[in-house]
Amino acid sequence: MNQTIEAIMSRRSIRCYKPHPIPSDIISTIIEAGNQAPSRGRMEEGQILFRPWRFVVVDDPEFRLKLVQTTLPIWKRATEGMKKVQPDMYENIMRQYEEMEEPKDMVYHCAPVILFVIGPADFAVSCALSCENIMVAATSLGLGSFYVGFGAMVTGNAEVVEALELVEGERIYGPIVLGYPDEESSALASIRPTKKEPEIKWI
Ligand SMILES: Cc1cc2nc3c(=O)[nH]c(=O)nc-3n(C[C@H](O)[C@H](O)[C@H](O)COP(=O)(O)O)c2cc1C
Repeated sequence: MNQTIEAIMSRRSIRCYKPHPIPSDIISTIIEAGNQAPSRGRMEEGQILFRPWRFVVVDDPEFRLKLVQTTLPIWKRATEGMKKVQPDMYENIMRQYEEMEEPKDMVYHCAPVILFVIGPADFAVSCALSCENIMVAATSLGLGSFYVGFGAMVTGNAEVVEALELVEGERIYGPIVLGYPDEESSALASIRPTKKEPEIKWI
């Protein structure tokens, strides 16, 4: 099969990673792929500019611990909300949580790299396209990834906001975690939905 189609078809959210670091040239290639995404133009200082995003790569263990500590309570509250609606999934996830070693990273799943895509708040479509390019490129290079919605909920931590250099009007897209996939436990596999057939109408 064509390699691009193969990467798109085989991409899945991976939630279990080996601790091995990712070589920096591979991270650069993945970021280049993210930077290659199409984007809406924006007017700034009399010019139309494209590619509204910027990237922050986190691989420092101390900083990632800060991210985990900031987002884990938010994750816990949201997961509690699942108890009544999807009790089986809730129990599976909580079992996984209990078995996990400290700091019980149920948000980034111990991936060695967390890649923040940061852009203007009103450029969600463009920035999401960049995120998808990143995930497909990662798959094609043998890496796992997933889009961590909870990972954007760090704006309550001033230290994190400062390190990410987040300014008024910007928001976080992703972040996307990257790492070499490890075998996934059954509990985590259960939050992997089966793909539905595409709904198509031809006119
Ligand atoms: C906007 C967005 C936010 C997401 N947030 C999370 C998240 O916080 N945690 C998580 O485990 N997966 C998250 N995901 C991944 C989805 O759960 C996943 O894409 C979906 O289950 C489909 O599975 P697949 O990626 O393997 O095809 C997110 C995906 C998107 C697009």
